Amino acid sequence: MPTIASGFKLSNGVRIPCIGFGTWQIPDDDELVAHIRDAIEIGYRHIDTAHIYGNERGVGRAVRTCGLPREKLFVTSKLWNTDRGYDGTIAAFNRTLETLGLDYLDLYLIHWPAARGEPMTWQSINSGTWRAMEDLYKSGCVRAIGVSNFLVHHLVPLLARATIAPMVNQIEFHPGYMQRPTVEFCMKRGIQIEAWSPLGRGALIAHPVLKEIAAAHGVTSAQAALRWCLQHGAAALPKSLNHERRVQNADLFGFSLTEEEMQRLDNLPQTGFSGLDPDHVTF
Ligand SMILES: NC(=O)c1ccc[n+]([C@@H]2O[C@H](COP(=O)([O-])OP(=O)(O)OC[C@H]3O[C@@H](n4cnc5c(N)ncnc54)[C@H](OP(=O)(O)O)[C@@H]3O)[C@@H](O)[C@H]2O)c1
Repeated sequence: MPTIASGFKLSNGVRIPCIGFGTWQIPDDDELVAHIRDAIEIGYRHIDTAHIYGNERGVGRAVRTCGLPREKLFVTSKLWNTDRGYDGTIAAFNRTLETLGLDYLDLYLIHWPAARGEPMTWQSINSGTWRAMEDLYKSGCVRAIGVSNFLVHHLVPLLARATIAPMVNQIEFHPGYMQRPTVEFCMKRGIQIEAWSPLGRGALIAHPVLKEIAAAHGVTSAQAALRWCLQHGAAALPKSLNHERRVQNADLFGFSLTEEEMQRLDNLPQTGFSGLDPDHVTF
């Protein structure tokens, strides 16, 4: 894979650039637009947002004004928990497109399984939501559909009722929190993993094993962690408000981790975990 714009191929043939620019907690203002435009200049072609981030307007403005044709960029947004269900999903998708000022999305995800708030009904709510996602996909206004934070026991009932399987599952994935059962389940079924918080929100950077492995390759801990994601076949979504670190997070192709280094990172004790358990997140 020569650059961060190179992609993994989804089950429907769409290519997803292997590194995306994360935008969580970046306020919707001129600075957000400047950060995204700078990322695009560096070579990022994939931008990750969500309705709940409250910054779709700025993301759309950056995409529309960056000077690249729309089809050169890959834009993801996510359906918020309170908008689930068939009608809610269609309405929320249309609002998202309008806020972004775009006429299609590259990827739309159900943000959380939200299983706890409705212990009796979450499966049928998610199933109605998924039917809407399938209809949006069939209508051509989104190039790929998927889920986020779905563990195996959330995926099984969804897959049982789906006519189109999710193409992506975006989960927390980094050395120190690799969620092996979910990753293995998805990979067996051709569901692409996307790694959120691939740097453990920065908390991973100082881990001595990661530092040692990074030093052996003359790279930073962040680069080693992102390379670990890519070598596992996962697309990754690092966020940085700093130009130099954005450049660094895009420079991942001049080295590769050995099998032994991969295993050492696989076996890191829990580090940098967000604390967000999909079975307990209701918001
Ligand atoms: N689907 C979901 O439920 C979900 C949940 C969480 C996140 N996400 C997505 O994943 C994206 C990334 O996750 P995240 O924002 O939580 O965390 P992250 O990318 O793991 O880490 C971001 C933190 O790491 C620092 N950092 C970035 N590059 C660095 C480098 N090269 N060296 C040292 N420090 C570095 C940043 O500081 P500086 O800004 O100062 O560089 C920031 O504090 C989000 O923005 C969002 O798009 C999705």
